[in-house]
Amino acid sequence: MDKKRAAAERAVEFVQSGMVVGLGTGSTAYFAIEALGKRIEEGLEIAGVATSSGTEQLAVKFGVPLVPLDEVKLVDVTIDGADEVDPQFNLIKGMGGALLREKIVAYASLEEIIIVDDSKLVDVLGIRSPLPIEVAPFGHKLTRIALEGLGCQARLKGGEKPFMTDNGNLVYECKFERIEDPEFLEIEIHLIPGVIESGLFIDLATKVVIGQENGTQLRERY
Ligand code: A5P
Repeated sequence: MDKKRAAAERAVEFVQSGMVVGLGTGSTAYFAIEALGKRIEEGLEIAGVATSSGTEQLAVKFGVPLVPLDEVKLVDVTIDGADEVDPQFNLIKGMGGALLREKIVAYASLEEIIIVDDSKLVDVLGIRSPLPIEVAPFGHKLTRIALEGLGCQARLKGGEKPFMTDNGNLVYECKFERIEDPEFLEIEIHLIPGVIESGLFIDLATKVVIGQENGTQLRERY
């Protein structure tokens, strides 16, 4: 079985009737939404919170009922993908461009289950993936200069046809060689005016389900 699908299907086993479920964005989260749809057909009763307009459409396609985030007090469990996962469960997320909503939903979640194939595991963040950072369109070229001052090379997502997020913002993909201190970098990024959110997810993931050649592996933080 596809590694991403295997991870997604294992994560969906943690979902129980009555839960509010955060629905992630990306090619791995796709399989989780599909699997939730199948369990709903079999009688599971949940309300989903979408992390992007693309995910909203998938939820409709697979029959997952949706509720706006502002109509719930918390999210019981969110299942989402990631671009990199380090041994402390810190993440880079957002290469699909949905990082702001993903992070708001993750912060509201009791459980954040990350589903990845084994290629996403790294010893140090940044070695494989750029770090996506959502920025306001106003003055974004100056914001880019400030971001590069932190030691990365920043590329506007979409290039000449800039990608626009669901929130009407731009994304810079910032390639660092290694992010040795993600907590400190997160503070530095947020000190730059124009930054809306970064794709560093620190202390948010509670479980990681890894799809690998011979099945899945579950890692739990607590
Ligand atoms: C979406 O904005 C991202 O955070 C995705 O969760 C992340 O990029 C992983 O995507 P894939 O599951 O498609 O690799």
